Amino acid sequence: RGPETYSPTGQETGIPQEKVAQGGERLTTAQGARLYDTDHSLKAGPRGPVLIQDHHLREKITHFDHERIPERVVHARGAAAHGVFRGYGAAAGITKAAFLAEGVETPVFVRFSTVLGSRGSADTVRDTRGVATKFYTGEGVFDLVGNNIPVFFIQDALKFPDVIHAGKPHPDREIPQAQSAHDTFWDFVTLHTEATHHTLWNMSDRGIPRSYRMMEGFGVHTFRLVNAEGATTLVKFHWKPKLGVHSLVWEEAQITAGVDPDFHRRDLADAIEAGAFPQWELGVQTFPDTEEQMFEGIDLLDPTKIVPEELAPVRPIGLMTLNANPSNYFAETEQVAFHVGHLVPGIDVTDDPLLQGRLFSYLDTQISRLGGPNFGQLPINRTHAPVNDMLRDGMHQTAVHTGVAPYHPNSLDGGCPFLAGEETGAYIEVPVEVPAARKVRDAAASFDDHFSQPRLFWLSMSPTEREHIVAAYTFELGKCWETAIKERALKVLANIDPDLCAHVAAGLGLPAPEASLVPAVVEPSPALSQLGGDWPVE
Ligand code: HEM
Repeated sequence: RGPETYSPTGQETGIPQEKVAQGGERLTTAQGARLYDTDHSLKAGPRGPVLIQDHHLREKITHFDHERIPERVVHARGAAAHGVFRGYGAAAGITKAAFLAEGVETPVFVRFSTVLGSRGSADTVRDTRGVATKFYTGEGVFDLVGNNIPVFFIQDALKFPDVIHAGKPHPDREIPQAQSAHDTFWDFVTLHTEATHHTLWNMSDRGIPRSYRMMEGFGVHTFRLVNAEGATTLVKFHWKPKLGVHSLVWEEAQITAGVDPDFHRRDLADAIEAGAFPQWELGVQTFPDTEEQMFEGIDLLDPTKIVPEELAPVRPIGLMTLNANPSNYFAETEQVAFHVGHLVPGIDVTDDPLLQGRLFSYLDTQISRLGGPNFGQLPINRTHAPVNDMLRDGMHQTAVHTGVAPYHPNSLDGGCPFLAGEETGAYIEVPVEVPAARKVRDAAASFDDHFSQPRLFWLSMSPTEREHIVAAYTFELGKCWETAIKERALKVLANIDPDLCAHVAAGLGLPAPEASLVPAVVEPSPALSQLGGDWPVE
């Protein structure tokens, strides 16, 4: 299970060919028996019935019958590439993660995706894009499972099935929202106004990227870094593309979805094949790890909030280069399994309630999607670090474990005792105080501010970008059948900005409502209020 048996970049690693592909010169059964005919079934005479004893026929058809696995419940449509990440060493003071040290090179596999479409859907739809990176570090796998939009629709993972049900095709006709009725999506995001910020980013040009190579990536949540002395820092992760951030215009996106639905997938593969390797810098915004976990009045545990880069600049800590296409889509892009819980020493999670739910969800869904608990043994998911996990058996177990005592500690097999200093591993509880509290389902009051940051985003837009946003809201809301939903959406827009609301209302032929301020609009902190109209647009 170590690097000697598999490397994602494949052939040059000396991996025996028969392990990764079809080998031998003769056509065989799955058991290696030579075949002389794979075109004609075994029959009782040339015009007679087919015989059940034709094992080759049954094996071939049975395997074909089981070729499909369930697509991902979200992010089903994706494209991926291999590459390498090189640490700058700039994060050495705040994290002991070895792969971030200066000059260390780590193989990576990155999967880009849309969220809502099925596996066969078009690339250029208006949607959020996934940006999931697997770092095969010497200390174990680290996954940074982010999106191209820095905020999320909901603040609590308990709402995740609801927001996805609202965004997926209507259950009666199975017609995707992007093409027909939009009522459920807009019903949800107007009844849950914490979705306003993410929705506004979706309606901006960020919702229709020009290329995967020209998108930012965001870890969204706040993470906790731990340095060699045990000191902690809160951070938000950012990927900055060397090619800059670029978008399609809506007409291009629509035409491309018809003419070349594989546009983004093709663009990524073609660029890499031509040697135009896309690059991203990884950066962090850093915040003191205080008891409140707030920064300039912004709640760092609220995934619907950003921290403007004027208040906390993004410090580059490494460079990623994608330099090889997958050689088999199913084995790599489809079977890769990312998880926000895949952490290495020096990187830890925070109590963001959305992140906490994700920690449960990914492993759970992958057990169903990839057929049991052993998908970590699939070549694309294998760590490059030695494994001694005491996990045994289960569906699709391919390891042949030796020894008699698969438990720890034990006195029979050597037992892999903890070594002195082993407390420097991953998943140590960083000594963060959890305040004594009674059990509640309430969120913090700061989670009630749903509009100050959408307003900031709108005010930062250029006139052309505002035109695009108005056109996007008008087009998408124009597809709703229920007038009540459109009217509710206009109330939400009035709470962002009266001008935005008036323009969309005019486009829909409806009166523009006053701002209702429900739920209450919390005034932004003084630091946020001081930011003018030119906050970060790439
Ligand atoms: C898949 C990002 C929230 C459940 C993914 C993928 C990405 C992603 C990039 C695709 C992974 C791939 O390419 O294989 C995010 C981000 C979130 C978020 C950035 C919020 C900030 C959630 C939440 C849940 C969830 C709250 C559930 C509670 C899932 C599931 C998959 C998935 C079940 C499919 C995984 C698989 O089958 O391999 N997410 N997600 N996500 N996400 Fe999330």
